[in-house]
Amino acid sequence: MGPYCVNSGPVARVDPLLGPIADVLIDRAGLTSGERVLDVGCGSGATTFAFAKAVAPNGFALGLDVSEPMLSQARALAPKGLPLDFVLADAGLRSGR
Ligand SMILES: C[S@@+](CC[C@H](N)C(=O)[O-])C[C@H]1O[C@@H](n2cnc3c(N)ncnc32)[C@H](O)[C@@H]1O
Repeated sequence: MGPYCVNSGPVARVDPLLGPIADVLIDRAGLTSGERVLDVGCGSGATTFAFAKAVAPNGFALGLDVSEPMLSQARALAPKGLPLDFVLADAGLRSGR
């Protein structure tokens, strides 16, 4: 994760850089309608949008990120009508320790 990703920096530069990687990831995941996806480190939501399209209409995609600015952008850019939501959380935190 680079300095572009967490809390500051030119957020809009992230998706174009990672787009080709995300395309391969989404293809290899082989998702079908009805499945549920947890997108950890969803950033500004491009991968979550693609996952939600792949599992719609009966599935669901939840994007999780530690950066509120990234999630704000994801919520603003999210296409209407897709089965998705976003949550602010640190995937690195472990409970009970
Ligand atoms: C390189 S971006 C990837 C964004 C998106 N998945 C994509 O492919 O366009 C990585 C994201 O992981 C998030 N991230 C880094 N550490 C995290 C953690 N411990 N918990 C949740 N998200 C985290 C960053 O805030 C950033 O938005």
